[in-house]
Amino acid sequence: MKTASIKFDRFNEMQDDACHERIRAARARLGDSAVILAHHYQRADVYQYADLTGDSLKLSRLASQTDSQYIVFCGVHFMAEVADIMSKPHQRAILPDMAAGCSMADMANLAKVERCWRELNTVLNAEEAVTPITYINSAADLKAFCGDHGGIVCTSSNAGTIAKWAFAQREKILFFPDQHLGRWTGHTMGIPLDEMIVWDPDLEMGGLTPEQIRQARLLLWKGHCSVHQMFQPAHILKFRNQYPDGIVISHPECSFEVCRQSDYVGSTELIVKKIKEAAPNTRWLVGTELNLVNRLAEEVKPEGKIVHFMAPTVCMCSTMQRIDPQHLAWTLENLAEGNVVNEIKVPEHEARLAKLALERMLAVS
Ligand code: 13P
Ligand code: SF4
Repeated sequence: MKTASIKFDRFNEMQDDACHERIRAARARLGDSAVILAHHYQRADVYQYADLTGDSLKLSRLASQTDSQYIVFCGVHFMAEVADIMSKPHQRAILPDMAAGCSMADMANLAKVERCWRELNTVLNAEEAVTPITYINSAADLKAFCGDHGGIVCTSSNAGTIAKWAFAQREKILFFPDQHLGRWTGHTMGIPLDEMIVWDPDLEMGGLTPEQIRQARLLLWKGHCSVHQMFQPAHILKFRNQYPDGIVISHPECSFEVCRQSDYVGSTELIVKKIKEAAPNTRWLVGTELNLVNRLAEEVKPEGKIVHFMAPTVCMCSTMQRIDPQHLAWTLENLAEGNVVNEIKVPEHEARLAKLALERMLAVS
């Protein structure tokens, strides 16, 4: 039976131990009606409760395959939006803390992308010449924009395949919001750097001349991840000098130079897989978020594998970090009482077009 929703104030100051007890009790009451999904970057004290874990691509697939009434997403806002878009009508997507956003996703918005499209149309026929690709790290209305303009969504694990599909549709790509993933993807496809140009959304015509736009094959939105920009080529150089046999692996949100100097570049899922499957006693330098790296380092330690974090400073995804035991306990307890809190609901017309772009991605990859 539904009761008045429990206020978060009661959990805000609660000690972690008490939260863990309440999470376990609420989970037991919820049974199969709730499933907890967690991204690899989740903090350990929350990640331990996940029923399903993965990178963005895997989680978007898993979200569409579960049957539970409540999909509790321990990740960031755009991930819970994808879960809502891909879920069945009886399912509700929940984000334990609404403040868990993605600063990179916020670097592009619909007004700016529509302005970019209008400006491109003054130089060429964008609808015929440009396929828009949005990285999954973006708001639902940008996915809907892509659905509506013959475009598609990509993740860090399928960007190459998606870009090939996009070039088969039209001669150019507009890639947003992460310039680094776009550039690295273009590079792996053999596109020269001077045919990939940066569109600055704060400048008229992206700060480009009509000639530059006509010449370009890939237009890269000027966006980046504040966590991955902390990793520098100098960190790799220092590691290689110290450990000549060490292996370097980075996420493609890192800068071009970091990716170029890495032995492997790939999504969080690929990073986990590569290191878990590596030979015993190998040494790794990893350029991605700290929670993942710390967890992985512990997991592979018994095989004699040593995992180093690439930056000398602490680089956590501060927004993912917001999903803490207090918010998880509050969310689950409310759900167990029949109160749906922090539901993520994408408006119907937006969800329909965003789903089109997501389904194109899932079909292609
Ligand atoms: P993955 O697709 O590799 O999980 O990356 C998502 C992300 O936000 C990395 O910063
Ligand atoms: Fe967004 Fe960067 Fe956090 Fe990934 S690590 S969710 S791109 S802010």
